[in-house]
Formats: sequence, structure tokens, C-alpha cells
Amino acid sequence: MSELNLNTYNSDAVIKWYKHLNEITFVEKKIFETHKDLLASSKILDIGIGGGRTTAYLLDKCKSYTGIDYSKGFVDAVKKKYPNADIRLADARDLKAFENNSFDLVNFSFNGIDYVGPEDRKKIFNEIYRVLKPGAFFFFSTHNKDHKTFDQFPWLDKNNSFITNLKTFVKLLPFLPRHLKQKRKEINLNDYSVINDSAHNYGLLTFYTSPQFLKKQLTHHSFNEICLLSKNGETVSDDKLDDWIFVTCKRSSA
Ligand SMILES: C[S@@+](CC[C@H](N)C(=O)[O-])C[C@H]1O[C@@H](n2cnc3c(N)ncnc32)[C@H](O)[C@@H]1O
Repeated sequence: MSELNLNTYNSDAVIKWYKHLNEITFVEKKIFETHKDLLASSKILDIGIGGGRTTAYLLDKCKSYTGIDYSKGFVDAVKKKYPNADIRLADARDLKAFENNSFDLVNFSFNGIDYVGPEDRKKIFNEIYRVLKPGAFFFFSTHNKDHKTFDQFPWLDKNNSFITNLKTFVKLLPFLPRHLKQKRKEINLNDYSVINDSAHNYGLLTFYTSPQFLKKQLTHHSFNEICLLSKNGETVSDDKLDDWIFVTCKRSSA
């Protein structure tokens, strides 16, 4: 899983795709604006920066900004774009470059946390807990396994026209052999799944969690004040969450 995902995130095509992604989403803006006083006084660790979408937004709004990614291609691209920013090559599973209790906020946007398997996901929660100050915030998003679109063929999207779905099918057709190969590595459990969805032409194995398991796991890793938000930034019941779950929570103060 690890090798496939890192190769995809280091590929020229994917780096080019993220290069033009500059806007933050409605819910991200809502979360950041709700906490704008916190941002202004915060030392932020932004994990999985990709092409620097959140770097563009956060860099001037916080006291201190460090952005990391495990893809050298992305790190080089963002360093070029923001030569004065603290941008480093580092893996969320091992944040040894950072001391205990050193950040006021950790951000891991656009489901970046979903590109490791179940055991590595635990390592990431432990590492983020370790580098956060007691009571400090963690913002991220993750794929929702309980959403109706989970593991649906992308060319059967009911919101799209027949022609759009046909074009999607034709575009993905050459990548179906790769999909069939990766499908053998999929995991499907009640609490979570790891599947080869169609993102980046079936180039990734992606972790999907149920909202219930997500809350259980965060609680287990000593995060509290857990809020699961919809794409319009509202706290809703688990069954009303979107395909992406937006999360704000805090490291326990102990
Ligand atoms: C879906 S992209 C999102 C990029 C960016 N955060 C954005 O919002 O546009 C996920 C990013 O997380 C990075 N990533 C995935 N696993 C990682 C890990 N274990 N450590 C650091 N970065 C990781 C990938 O290289 C990629 O840049």
C-alpha cells in the first residue's frame, strides 16, 4: 500500500494536478475562521501539504508555519513556490524531527491521513498526539465508509448525465487491469475498509472509516472534543455526514 501510494504522490502527473489547486473548501474556511484567533497565536504543523493549497492559506495567518510531505516531488514544488517557508520532507508516521508538545495545531487536510494502512494510521495518531501541546487542536478529513457512494463504480454516479458517466468509463478503461491487480490487496471490515478507488486512475489504496469507528479510535488515542462536520461545516448526526468527514478535535490536556 505504502509503495503504491508514495509512487503515485511522487509522479509528475499527480504533482502537476495539485499544482493548480489553490482554493480551500467552504468547510475548511469555516473551521479556520472559527479559530482565527487561535491561528494567529499558533505554531502550526501542516501535514501532507501536496501542492501547497493549505500553505497558501495558512502561511500568513499563524505565528509559525511548518509544512511537511513524504513526497519529495511535492516538497520541492512547494519550496519553489514559497522559498521562505519552512517546508520539509517528513513522514507523518515518524515525526522524529519534532519535539514532544511543540505545536498548537496540527492540520492534515484533504484526507491525506487515508493513504496509510490501519497499523500506520495508529502510528500517525500517536505521533500527532506526541507533537501537540496538551489541549491543542487537530484538524483533518477522512473518507466515510458509511456514505452511500462508498465503493460505487464512478461511471454509475447518479448525479452525472449518461454522457459524463460514459466519458468517465472510457477514461478509466485503460487502468482497469491495474485496478484488478490492486483489488486483491483490499480490506473490507465493518469498522473500516482499504480500497483501490478510482482516484488518480486507480493509483492509490485508500482507507475509509465508519464515523463510529473514527470517534472510537480518536478517543482511544486520547483526543477529545471530537466534532464531525459535513461539507457545509455543520455538526450533523453520523448518518447525515458526507462522503468526506471533516474533523476537529483536541489532544487531551493530561
Ligand atoms: C490527497 S493529497 C492532499 C494534498 C494537500 N493537503 C491538499 O489539501 O491539497 C494527500 C497528501 O498527503 C501526503 N501524504 C500521504 N501520506 C503521508 C504521510 N504518511 N506522511 C506525509 N505526507 C503524506 C501525500 O503525499 C499528498 O501530498
